[in-house]
Amino acid sequence: VKAASPRRASAGSAAAASSAVPVALFGASGMLAGEFLRLLELHPGLRLHAAVARRGSSLLETQPQLSSDLATCSIEQAEQALAKTEGPAAAVFALPHGESPALWARLRERLGARADELRVVDLAADYRLRDPALYESAYAHAHPQPAELASWAYGLPEFRREEIASSRRAAAPGCFATALQLATLPAAYAGLLDASRPWILHAITGSSGSGNTPKDTTHHPFRHDNLWAYALEGHRHEAELAQALAWRDLRAPIHFVALSGPFARGIHLTAALPLARAVSVDEVRSIYRAQYAGEPFVEVLLDGAPDLRRVVGSNRASLALSVRGEVLTVVLTLDNLVKGGAGQALQCLNLLLGFPETWGLPRSGLGVS
Ligand SMILES: NC(=O)c1ccc[n+]([C@@H]2O[C@H](COP(=O)([O-])OP(=O)(O)OC[C@H]3O[C@@H](n4cnc5c(N)ncnc54)[C@H](OP(=O)(O)O)[C@@H]3O)[C@@H](O)[C@H]2O)c1
Repeated sequence: VKAASPRRASAGSAAAASSAVPVALFGASGMLAGEFLRLLELHPGLRLHAAVARRGSSLLETQPQLSSDLATCSIEQAEQALAKTEGPAAAVFALPHGESPALWARLRERLGARADELRVVDLAADYRLRDPALYESAYAHAHPQPAELASWAYGLPEFRREEIASSRRAAAPGCFATALQLATLPAAYAGLLDASRPWILHAITGSSGSGNTPKDTTHHPFRHDNLWAYALEGHRHEAELAQALAWRDLRAPIHFVALSGPFARGIHLTAALPLARAVSVDEVRSIYRAQYAGEPFVEVLLDGAPDLRRVVGSNRASLALSVRGEVLTVVLTLDNLVKGGAGQALQCLNLLLGFPETWGLPRSGLGVS
């Protein structure tokens, strides 16, 4: 079934589409790719130029939720399509961890100087850690391209906006890393937290966080009505919080436990952070509100705590704060597929291309999903 793209619905929108920046998407049959394509349909400055997938011959075979179709292609065909573009062009890598370096090396070899002009966002964790030693300690193997790491901006716009906007490439943090940093960094950077005591962070993820390959732990009879923790000895994505602290010469004992929850989309994080001094919740809240003032995609609540329905489907992270004795509690929710995934990638792409940062990004949640 093929349907017209909303971008082709009128003469005006057709003209806009033809001047839009072409995007090549790698891993187009995947979970985040599907969400990225959904958001792309409403983006006024980008158009899908090539969709690389190993399965199926057209997008609708693996992404039937989309309103428009495109024949999928091989990496080689995407390279040829990118080589023919003039002016700004973009690529998004939505591949499993470990696959992006080989793809990037190949694009550089085949496209030469044109590859360097591309605006690229990687959704995997391959280029998120700047320090090769930190990468090796988090992933238990040496990075295959340590010299490349410095050329990728860390794609968390709320804390690295200028760096992303002045770069060609960004490594978008995933759902856990985004939640950990948005919840913790305002207090950490303001010197509110005690680094001699553990920072306890628990985050529950929905099943879509595991991607579209079925696994025992994503099988419906097992997942629904169930809840469990994993990576009790330390989750590799906490290294991204350690990196963000190190950028301000801070270190802390991070104790992050990840849990798998019985819902499809969303991250629910609870952080219990030791305070370095007596502080009121009003003071903490004013620090967080100042940090996120003007941020289109982070809200600091004055009452209550955010639930998943508030944010699922949106590019928003929503957080609430409380202080009891020596502990600051931060509760934060976001949609792993949007602010923790495809939406963050689009936010980075907007910055890399000089577009308004909010283009194509929903601020409202679905309410009911
Ligand atoms: N899901 C989330 O909530 C989330 C959030 C943030 C970041 N991330 C990260 O984003 C990346 C994509 O995640 P996802 O959830 O979309 O994963 P996914 O659903 O498993 O999709 C991965 C895609 O990559 C393709 N692929 C796998 N191996 C490949 C290879 N060697 N060469 C070319 N294509 C290959 C797969 O194609 P086939 O269908 O042909 O196998 C699939 O289309 C991962 O690195 C993940 O860690 C995920």
